[in-house]
Amino acid sequence: MSLTVGRRQFLEQLGRSGAALAAGSWLASIGYSAAAGPARAIVNQARVRSELDRRLFGSFLEHLGRAVYTGVYDPGSPLADANGFRRDVAGQIKGLGVPIIRYPGGNFVSGYHWLDGVGPRAGRPTVLERAWNSLETNQFGTNEFIDWCRLVGTEPLLGMNFGTGSAEMAVAYVEYCNVDRGTKWSELRRSHGYDRPHGVRTWCLGNEMDGPWQMGTIPARDYGRKARDTARQMRVLDPGYQLIACGSSNTILPTYLVWDREVLEECYDQVDGLSLHAYYGNTQTLTGNSTARYLAMNLDMDRQIAEAEAVCDYIQAMRRSSKRLWLSFDEWNVWYRARNGAAVNGNRAFAPKLLEEVYNLEDALLVGGFINTLVRNSDRVRVACLAQLVNVIAPLVTNDTGVLRQSIFYPYSCALKYARGRVLDLRVESDTYPIRATGLQADFARNADVPFVDIVATMNPGNGEACVLMLNRDLDAEREVILNWRETTPTRVLACETLTGSDLKAFNTFEQPQRVVPRPLEPPKPGSQMALKLPPRSYTVMHLATS
Ligand code: AHR
Repeated sequence: MSLTVGRRQFLEQLGRSGAALAAGSWLASIGYSAAAGPARAIVNQARVRSELDRRLFGSFLEHLGRAVYTGVYDPGSPLADANGFRRDVAGQIKGLGVPIIRYPGGNFVSGYHWLDGVGPRAGRPTVLERAWNSLETNQFGTNEFIDWCRLVGTEPLLGMNFGTGSAEMAVAYVEYCNVDRGTKWSELRRSHGYDRPHGVRTWCLGNEMDGPWQMGTIPARDYGRKARDTARQMRVLDPGYQLIACGSSNTILPTYLVWDREVLEECYDQVDGLSLHAYYGNTQTLTGNSTARYLAMNLDMDRQIAEAEAVCDYIQAMRRSSKRLWLSFDEWNVWYRARNGAAVNGNRAFAPKLLEEVYNLEDALLVGGFINTLVRNSDRVRVACLAQLVNVIAPLVTNDTGVLRQSIFYPYSCALKYARGRVLDLRVESDTYPIRATGLQADFARNADVPFVDIVATMNPGNGEACVLMLNRDLDAEREVILNWRETTPTRVLACETLTGSDLKAFNTFEQPQRVVPRPLEPPKPGSQMALKLPPRSYTVMHLATS
């Protein structure tokens, strides 16, 4: 890859984002201003950011550790149905209403031979999986995943092997899944007992191909050309596919943004979305182990989105294209504890315990913040996947006898339950606190003023119901919020719940599953001006009926 234009230099050339960063006014660009006293939000039904694409609340299931095997598929378990799917896990996911699930990886997909995972089970090979050094029996493959998606009521988002795999086999995979009949690969699917095509609409053209850790990592331009070629062939099968190109895997790589630019220079016209990934943690290097800094990390996500947007818009302008790309934040979560050594090396075992992060209250609050960030960027981020779903950096954890909801389950479930319709373009005033750059890793180092309160809202024009999601980053004090409603007036509070607690490090276990769960919060009186007090260190949802 050519690095003749440096990363920051390139960014500075970009209009909106570069200017906003230089002026330090990026908070204003997401609708915030600093003001002492109670936080205020103007909620105006006429100011709409976007229709909410529910795929913003997607998730991710990788062949990794205990995610698939023993997580969702465990034929020997008394909890499994006739297909071997865990009924308790499927019930949780169906109950959540996860709209889209990315599969089969992740790093796994870059060495995956999809043909190994289809056809009669007895003939499927056990292989050494090299991303996580584990044994892959292939007893769960694409057709089982599609069956499971139907069971839990979700849409599949399939990834393709751009690591060890060819464009030819990637397109063969699409033909296998989606062509009705009468061709080599569609007839193979039919011979496997799937007469009707799977109808997969959305595809990831590889995974994290910029990452030195990725099997088959290639330079940006080579990747961009392969993506272009594969996309062109796929569009012969169906021009309507939604195709997502690999963007930067994180903000720390030296190729950040330059990768995105070079990839899009090669394949802009053939793709629809660009992927972003990010994992966060409360560590010495990222936050100085400061929870106050940690809870501001969703603003780093806002910033990453703005930067990716800026690159897409730059390429659009350079190509004089009428097409505007959307973003797919298809891996995001907290992940920093189970990230090294034995936690990422399967040692050639089957379904080893990998990436089994235990989530506490402060992680859940930040996950609430990420949801707010995704919602307020829903005009550009159409797809996003909480990574992952079961056992591996996940809201749900299984053992032989049941399934546990980790703390991060709750902000995710309340967004899935209540955020519907349109995303409103709020104007928020909030008191702020300073965060400082000194001693922190460059890409997370900021001198900035962070609002104590982070708020987003949706309004469903179909039934007049509104949802307000609020993060209080103040670790010590409650914060008053005044919601000023314009155009519509709330008539009834249908639900008001908060996730909080005195111990930010508290987490749920099978023995104590209720330590971090949302509790009812005294609802404010409905009306055009509503005042409520957010508990310190809390994430609150309010669901309202409006006139
Ligand atoms: O989600 C865990 C891993 O993180 C994925 O396999 C990879 O894409 C990312 O680096």
